[in-house]
Amino acid sequence: MASSRATLFLLFSLIAFSPLSTAVTYMGDVELSTQFYDHTCPKAQEIVKNVVAQAYAKDPRIAASLLRLHFHDCFVKGCDASLLLDSSGTIVSEKRSVPNRDSARGFEVIDQIKLALEGECPLTVSCADILAISARDSVVMAGGPDWAVSLGRRDSLGASVQGSNNDIPAPNNTFSTLLTKFKRQGLDLLDLVALSGSHTIGDSRCTSFRQRLYNQTGNGQPDLSLDPSYASQLRTHCPQSGGDQNLFFLDPVTPFKFDNQYYKNLIEHKGLLSSDEVLFTQNNDTMEIVEKFAENQGLFFDTYVKSIIKMGNISPLTGSNGEIRKICRRVNHN
Ligand code: HEM
Ligand SMILES: *[C@@H]1O[C@H](CO)[C@@H](O)[C@H](O)[C@H]1NC(C)=O
Ligand SMILES: *[C@@H]1O[C@H](CO)[C@@H](O)[C@H](O)[C@H]1NC(C)=O
Ligand SMILES: *[C@@H]1O[C@H](CO)[C@@H](O)[C@H](O)[C@H]1NC(C)=O
Repeated sequence: MASSRATLFLLFSLIAFSPLSTAVTYMGDVELSTQFYDHTCPKAQEIVKNVVAQAYAKDPRIAASLLRLHFHDCFVKGCDASLLLDSSGTIVSEKRSVPNRDSARGFEVIDQIKLALEGECPLTVSCADILAISARDSVVMAGGPDWAVSLGRRDSLGASVQGSNNDIPAPNNTFSTLLTKFKRQGLDLLDLVALSGSHTIGDSRCTSFRQRLYNQTGNGQPDLSLDPSYASQLRTHCPQSGGDQNLFFLDPVTPFKFDNQYYKNLIEHKGLLSSDEVLFTQNNDTMEIVEKFAENQGLFFDTYVKSIIKMGNISPLTGSNGEIRKICRRVNHN
């Protein structure tokens, strides 16, 4: 325990004294750069931001939905826009997977962004980069931290519905399964706690947490780590059967604000998903990180930026691998 606590302290010290982000990320011989489109499409980021802002004005939840798309893209075959492909020919769309079906949304906004970019600079800006930029813009619009997005990812020629089912963490995964799934992506304990803070905005369906309300471990009892009065409140709109698609704020206190309220909720045993609450109840190290983020929003924001940049760097296609799709929903030639 003592040595892991010392390690955590060291991590926080490093975060406090290091620059927010670096311009170039080295991935072996592969590199992404924040300046990637400076000459080929200088208005790219402005165009993305404008479309995201229009969508956000109509529907503030879109910020959460776009942020989640970047995550569900990066955890499956890397950040390569595989998530965006519709089924056709040999491609079975990831949109059919358990985590995405009746859940992932925002694809029309990505289509609009791509259309605008094709008008400005055809076949230049990848769909994978659109996801990364719109995730950043979404966080900023909701009041969260800003960062320079590394760019230069290319788009996949295929999808993996199996990867989507297996590699994206599930809301009833145990703490150790969550950590294993993050480690598989090169992400660590601190990344797990920081990136879960994305649940400071957005919604969940009843079906994603019902198990906790009625029969958490198969003994007919609710999850004891869930505040009883919050649980009974949730049960009124999330019945034992029916109402699967009913929506609930992941952070009911400040549902549209990207802040550190999520961590305060966990401390009060009011994390909506089991995968949220276990960060406070199942591991002493993550509990300590939750407490630090709950009391220091600046520390959460700085850590979040580092972690989401790391997530955005998961196995990108670069150089002549993959392609720049003309339409994000399909490969150029099939
Ligand atoms: C730690 C493992 C994670 C699990 C188990 C998990 C699970 C979930 C589930 C079950 C939902 C509700 C989906 C529904 O019922 O329709 C959700 C929503 C969401 N997740 Fe996660 N998530 C995790 C990590 C992340 C990460 C890393 C991010 C972003 C970087 C993220 C961003 C979001 C957002 C923003 C929403 C709300 C989406 C909306 O309102 O459209 N999640 N997540
Ligand atoms: C987790 O949820 C899935 C889907 O509802 C279910 O099939 C599975 O049995 C659950 N796992 C556990 C350990 O409860
Ligand atoms: C709870 O789950 C267990 C195992 O899945 C099942 O056998 C049992 O009937 C369930 N109990 C209730 C009250 O739903
Ligand atoms: C967490 O800390 C408590 C008290 O400090 C200790 O008893 C317990 O064994 C620790 N749990 C783990 C999983 O390290």
